[in-house]
Formats: sequence, C-alpha cells, structure tokens
Amino acid sequence: TQSSGEVARMKNLNIIEMGEFQVEPWYFSPYPTETAYVPTLYICEFCLCYYTNHKQYERHRTKCTLQHPPGNEIYRKDDISFFEIDGRRQKMYCRNLCLLSKCFLDHKTLYYDVDPFLFYILTQRDERGCHIIGYFSKEKESADNYNLACILTLPQYQRMGYGRVLMQFSYELSKAEGKEGSPEKPLSDLGLLSYRAFWSEVLVELLVGIDDLSNMTSFTTQDILHALFSLDAIRYYHGQHCIVLSERVIEQYERFKKKKLRRIDPTCLKWTPKV
Ligand code: ACO
Ligand code: ZN
Repeated sequence: TQSSGEVARMKNLNIIEMGEFQVEPWYFSPYPTETAYVPTLYICEFCLCYYTNHKQYERHRTKCTLQHPPGNEIYRKDDISFFEIDGRRQKMYCRNLCLLSKCFLDHKTLYYDVDPFLFYILTQRDERGCHIIGYFSKEKESADNYNLACILTLPQYQRMGYGRVLMQFSYELSKAEGKEGSPEKPLSDLGLLSYRAFWSEVLVELLVGIDDLSNMTSFTTQDILHALFSLDAIRYYHGQHCIVLSERVIEQYERFKKKKLRRIDPTCLKWTPKV
C-alpha cells in the first residue's frame, strides 16, 4: 500500500550524513530538488537542518546551539530521554523530521502540515548532547483512536530494541490519558512485524490469570486478539474467546526472557494530557 503520487518516484538521495553516521536512504523523500542527487546530504543531528555542502554544514555546526530536540523533556531514565515537540510551535524542526523519516517510510504521504501533530523524540545522552535515535508522531485529536501516526528508528539504531521502547512509550501516554490506542493503519511491513512482536511479548508476560488485558495495556481488544491469534493462544469455546497457553506461548516467553531489553519506567514520565 503506497501513497499514489509517490509510487513512481525514484529514490533521490545517495548518502545522508548525520553526526557520526552515514546512512543510505531507502525511499524517495521530497527534499527540494536542488538538494537531491548530491553525493552526500549533511544533516545536523540536533536541529535536522540539511546542507549539500560540507563547508556550509561545518559553518552551521559552529553556530548551532541546540543540544537536544527543541521541546520539553518529559521522560528521563539513565541516558534515555523523550522530548515532546508541538508541530505548530516548531514547524521547521518537525518538517525536517518528516523529510528525514520519509527516507525510510514508503507507504505514508508526507504531511507538510505538521500543526495537528505532536512529535515524541527518543534520544540518548552523552557529553555532547541528546542524540536522536527515533521518534513517533501522534495526532493531537484522533477520530480513529490512533495513539501513533508514524514511528521510526533511524536505521543505524534498528534491531536494538528501540522500536519497542517507542511503542511502549506511546501506550504509556495512552494509559495516562485513560484511553485505548492503536497505531495508524496501514502499517508498513516492518511496522507490522514490530507491533506484532511487541504486542505478543507484552501479552505473553501478562497472560497468566489476567482477565482485563485491554485495561492493563491500553491495547485495543482488536489488537490483543490479533496478537493472541498469531500466537495460536485463542480458542473459541462455548460462544466465548478463551486464552490458552500453547507451546508457542511458553516458548516465546522463554525466548523473550533471555533478551536484555530496555524498558520504559512509567514513574519517570513527567506528563499530563492536555485537555
Ligand atoms: N526483520 C524481521 N523482524 C523485524 C525486523 C526486520 N528487519 N525489524 C523488526 N523486527 C521485529 C523483530 O521481532 C524485533 O525483535 P528482535 O530484534 O528481538 O527479533 C521486533 O520487531 C522489534 O525490534 P526493535 O529493535 O524493537 O525495533 P526497531 O528499533 O528496529 O524499530 C521500526 C522498528 C520502528 C518499525 C523500524 O523498523 C523502522 O523505523 N522502520 C522504518 C519505518 C517504518 O516502517 N515504520 C513503521 C511504519 S507504520 C506506522 O508508522 C504506523
Ligand atoms: Zn543544527
């Protein structure tokens, strides 16, 4: 499922350099035409401004004062922080973020209108500042009960458990709002794989003796059933869905327990929903 106008567009960027990383974009992104097709696009990892020329980029770096995303730090534990950015207040940053993330998302139309969204930026801190690892966006008002619009882990940080951290955080916000939530559809292939893995892992942990899974997780009943079906952990019995602990559930639980993964600590979240 690709957005129609962009199906035929060729990938227009070669290499992106950000901080100490060089990455190759996966898909077309609507950077201005004079920017595209250069050998390397230099992106400031703090303000996300982009430069076609290394000299210009270096000049910018001597002037740029940002050391973290331009918003409120609403979560901090160890070296991990989340910053909340309002699309209406930080248009430039959010547009630059959308341009960057479009390089790795094929199925979404890019929103130039960032006003209706909040952006939650996951960072890792060192002596130089808070470096962006990934983010998710969220509509300020979602008619469809979506608690996440777009999610991205920058390629240099993928498969290290940060996708789970982003997803868990999106549900912590839903819990604070007293709501259920679900990611915006359609999901990309990687989005579906990651959400399915995440829902399954969380549910498997809770499965024993819990009847109100939706309440505990803020997952919608539909997403719960989806994950449980994929685990082969649901039986329809006497007109009712029942959870069964299949071999696969137990196996998955043991595999998951072996991984050393970062978790969001809800007590470190300093955030109240805006009314
Ligand atoms: N191949 C197979 N399984 C995968 C892959 C992959 N390439 N990537 C993730 N998974 C599954 C695995 O089960 C993985 O667990 P494991 O590594 O322990 O096996 C699990 O998902 C979660 O992996 P994380 O390391 O926590 O997730 P990551 O930081 O890599 O981020 C994300 C996942 C955000 C989907 C990332 O792949 C990404 O940014 N992709 C490009 C953008 C995108 O497609 N976003 C989703 C669009 S849908 C939407 O926005 C609503
Ligand atoms: Zn900058």
